[in-house]
Amino acid sequence: MLLDLKLLHTGYRGHLRGFIRVVALSYLAAGFTMAQSLPLTFPDKSNPHSGEDCFVCHTRDGEPGKANFIKDVCVTCHSPAAVDKEIHLLHDASPLSERIDLPEGFPLTNEKLDCLTCHSVACKPDRSNKNFLRGGPYKTELDFCYQCHQTQDYQPVNPHEQLLATGAQDNATCLHCHIKIPTADDHPTISNVMHLDMTATCNKCHALHQHESNHQGRDLFHSKKAVAARFMETQERHQIKMPLSENRKIQCNTCHNPHERGLLQTENVVYEHPTGSNEHYLRLSKEKLCYGCHDL
Ligand code: HEC
Ligand code: HEC
Ligand code: HEC
Ligand code: HEC
Ligand code: HEC
Ligand code: HEC
Ligand code: HEC
Ligand code: HEC
Repeated sequence: MLLDLKLLHTGYRGHLRGFIRVVALSYLAAGFTMAQSLPLTFPDKSNPHSGEDCFVCHTRDGEPGKANFIKDVCVTCHSPAAVDKEIHLLHDASPLSERIDLPEGFPLTNEKLDCLTCHSVACKPDRSNKNFLRGGPYKTELDFCYQCHQTQDYQPVNPHEQLLATGAQDNATCLHCHIKIPTADDHPTISNVMHLDMTATCNKCHALHQHESNHQGRDLFHSKKAVAARFMETQERHQIKMPLSENRKIQCNTCHNPHERGLLQTENVVYEHPTGSNEHYLRLSKEKLCYGCHDL
């Protein structure tokens, strides 16, 4: 389950914020700034996480271990400002807050959150816990959040459930993503206006998103010609649209249609499972989606 509390700010910062009430207010206030994303990793840094060179992070006195990792080594390559803005607030986060239950074994530095509070750098790569989340791997992103945050503070909301039991459209859900409730006569340029850019629209509720790290923000028509050609051909063959951003980049809704089945007249989804279910709201089945653009 995910949280409505995540709705307040752009990007990650809003993950756990904002009860429904707060959300409505914040939308009205139109306070959304289209924050420029900061690079998390400084350019030209090589990746030490493959576990080959221990001494990038450990001093040479003795075997690498807990006693001799180099203090503050993370921020020689990663920007704490970017972490603060895009992943989780650092500077203003008080772990002493009564709303936080810091579990045993989550270390602080001078009573403050630090990279190592949340990341336990596995010194060899572990695909099941790619971001080295302390205590991980976790089944869902929220299982990690709830290590410190209290479940009762947050209300789950699923904005993809858009039809009422009567089959009528549940207008309340639309505004989680759209600026205004789209109607049948709206031109798509109106229907398609979201509160935030697409990544932020989705990522205010979905944090762990490595599965598309090869794709998010890639300019489809500046990629290999064969990929672009196949992309065009797939849409033609299945008679579906796989929307790109205005500047032709791949974004969440290129692969996903986040609407409930039956809401839109043209869904741009191929439902081929016998029950017509579509677990991950994918436009093509998981088996076929990749071949939709790649000739693997
Ligand atoms: C990216 C930086 C980084 C690299 C590279 C790295 N380490 Fe570490 N290592 C750390 C940090 C930070 C800690 C402390 C982790 C903690 O407190 O959770 C640590 C802790 C350890 C520990 C103690 C673990 C424990 O749970 O007690 C061992 C053993 C260790 N490292 C061995 C190695 C070896 C061997 C290599 C090379 C193959 C290596 N490390 C490479 C950052 C690194
Ligand atoms: C020598 C530079 C360097 C140091 C030191 C370093 N990192 Fe990294 N880290 C990288 C690079 C490069 C990547 C890959 C970034 C990418 O692919 O965009 C990375 C990736 C990561 C990832 C994502 C994992 C993945 O495989 O995509 C996490 C989480 C991370 N680092 C945390 C840390 C933490 C916490 C520390 C401190 C213990 C640390 N890093 C120290 C350079 C570094
Ligand atoms: C309160 C917990 C928390 C703290 C503190 C924290 N992180 Fe993270 N970090 C996370 C979570 C959760 C993710 C996974 C986000 C995702 O995959 O989108 C993450 C992901 C990352 C990534 C990979 C992002 C990606 O999309 O590949 C890097 C790099 C990283 N953190 C570095 C750091 C560094 C450096 C610090 C200290 C300056 C730090 N983090 C402090 C929770 C934290
Ligand atoms: C290591 C403990 C820890 C973990 C794990 C953690 N947080 Fe936090 N978080 C904090 C602390 C400390 C604060 C500051 C609380 C305060 O000032 O009252 C905070 C505050 C926040 C806030 C600001 C809103 C608020 O409630 O004050 C958001 C949003 C947030 N966290 C989201 C997340 C998300 C999403 C995750 C999981 C991906 C996560 N946190 C995991 C410690 C954690
Ligand atoms: C989880 C986010 C989300 C929610 C909630 C949502 N939409 Fe959308 N909607 C989108 C996205 C993203 C697009 C952009 C076009 C696309 O991906 O097909 C869109 C596009 C549309 C379009 C234009 C379709 C087209 O083919 O151009 C209509 C109409 C629409 N939505 C109606 C609704 C209605 C009505 C609701 C509420 C019952 C709703 N949406 C709720 C994300 C959402
Ligand atoms: C208001 C919060 C919210 C927003 C915004 C949101 N989602 Fe979701 N999403 C949810 C919840 C809640 C679920 C149900 C998750 C569960 O039950 O574990 C979900 C489920 C999903 C799933 C299926 C998860 C699975 O396990 O297969 C996909 C895919 C998805 N969302 C994609 C998107 C995309 C793409 C966007 C942006 C267009 C988006 N979501 C925006 C809250 C949100
Ligand atoms: C290149 C296609 C592609 C793009 C782009 C993409 N996804 Fe996915 N997504 C998938 C596929 C395929 C799955 C099923 C993954 C699986 O089962 O391993 C999936 C699964 C998911 C799930 C459910 C499973 C999980 O990992 O939690 C969520 C939520 C989700 N995507 C959200 C997003 C969001 C948010 C974005 C944009 C930031 C996005 N996706 C962009 C292809 C994509
Ligand atoms: C909408 C089209 C589209 C879909 C669907 C898609 N890809 Fe891609 N993929 C691309 C583009 C564009 C690139 C960037 C390639 C380039 O720059 O030449 C890319 C890059 C990649 C890469 C990185 C290697 C490289 O050439 O840069 C991998 C791996 C990959 N895709 C695998 C997948 C998998 C697995 C799936 C199914 C889950 C998938 N793709 C679905 C368009 C797509």
